[in-house]
Amino acid sequence: MRNCKTYMIRTYGCQMNELDSEIMTGQLHQKGLVEASSEAEADLILFNTCSIRDLAERKVLGKIGQLGRKRVKRPIIGVTGCMAMAKKDSLFKKVPHIDFILGTNNITDLSEVLDNLLDTGIKQVRIEDKFEDNLDYLIASRKNKLSAYVSIIRGCDKYCTYCVVPYTRGKEVSRPFASIKEEVTDLAAKGCKEITLLGQNVNSYGKDQPDWKIRFHDLIYELDKIDGIERIRFMTSHPVDITKDLMMAIRDVPSACEFIHFPIQAGSSRILKKMHRIYTLEEYLEKVDLLRKIVPNATLGTDIIVGFPTETDEEFEMTYNIFKQIDYSLAFLYTYSPRNGTPAKRWKDDVPEKVKEERLQKLYSLYEMQLNKQMQQLIGTSLEILVTGRNKNNYLTGKSRCFRKVVYQGDDSHIGTLQTVTVTGFHHQTLLASQA
Ligand code: 5AD
Ligand code: SF4
Repeated sequence: MRNCKTYMIRTYGCQMNELDSEIMTGQLHQKGLVEASSEAEADLILFNTCSIRDLAERKVLGKIGQLGRKRVKRPIIGVTGCMAMAKKDSLFKKVPHIDFILGTNNITDLSEVLDNLLDTGIKQVRIEDKFEDNLDYLIASRKNKLSAYVSIIRGCDKYCTYCVVPYTRGKEVSRPFASIKEEVTDLAAKGCKEITLLGQNVNSYGKDQPDWKIRFHDLIYELDKIDGIERIRFMTSHPVDITKDLMMAIRDVPSACEFIHFPIQAGSSRILKKMHRIYTLEEYLEKVDLLRKIVPNATLGTDIIVGFPTETDEEFEMTYNIFKQIDYSLAFLYTYSPRNGTPAKRWKDDVPEKVKEERLQKLYSLYEMQLNKQMQQLIGTSLEILVTGRNKNNYLTGKSRCFRKVVYQGDDSHIGTLQTVTVTGFHHQTLLASQA
């Protein structure tokens, strides 16, 4: 029988993967495994993978391939996450030294799958399409004790034409409120101050359960009541499902942070339609206006894809201009990457890579300029930050409610508390501050 006493988990992709890795780490600890000091020492290496773009998949495949070639004593290799779903039929063929594949909806089965593998020596696959919410969230081994991800809904029913997520993570399944509340109460008791409610589309919370009265904004009011939780964040939102009720919750609930990830993806209604985003540019802008009326100090984040099939120079210019107009404080910018199994994959990927790259760089330059301006405007203002530790220069470090990284000089007693500081300057994307 193979030895399995030490492990290493390699996590790629989104926050949901990060959380799932913390839960799987908890499961491995429960089995008595300890984290290996290096990859070479690990008896088990688990790859929690991402399929969102081609590059993400190639990175992991390259890494797993290397392990197969280089090691004399090869570790047990497991693959979970989106690639386990997207490539379930070809993974073993492509990479024969993989020992087990665990679907995104089956992380609860890790322990059993590992036992079966160790007992029988036979490769294991455990993949189901639908998430059964029987996961023990409480055993998650949290890296950050002050700030935690909390899953509230899994899967996605939106089917944007470019995106693999509805296929790799399945249909939307909301987590019962009692289970969320139990976890958040437990986190607060252990000293956690900030939670980020996670889902591919948090705003759909409860809609898959006809009997539940609770909606996403209700969740924010309810979780705010838990003693010790000082900040509530959430991600990701689909603009269509961002409601006035949610905006009012952000305004009225003290712990709700004034930041919304409001991914526009593209600035032309024709491309948005082709992406199946189910809103027009005008509808999107109306929502942004409403948010700014209800929560004037809210900042916005976005995701953008450039070079979607048939995107013209003029349509890209529209994306550029809207990006300028909205002045996002956080943006994730991508070139379009065709994904197997998605409707867009059937269309010609007709924007040349060079053009995609040029559009991306143009947007990045604008983003940098805008961030600089935003940082400049913050000088002299007061910000509330959650102090999480010290950086390598021994400055206290933390984040503002709107995700700005802030550093300042202060006492150790500040760590783990909310502090108000005055911004004195900035260096790249970090604000420098002094105690108010
Ligand atoms: N190509 C490029 N970017 C993509 N995203 C999702 N699918 C693709 C794709 N095929 C981006 C979207 C999404 C973010 C998580 O990843 O912008 O919001
Ligand atoms: Fe993908 Fe669209 Fe669902 Fe977001 S909303 S996960 S982009 S299908």
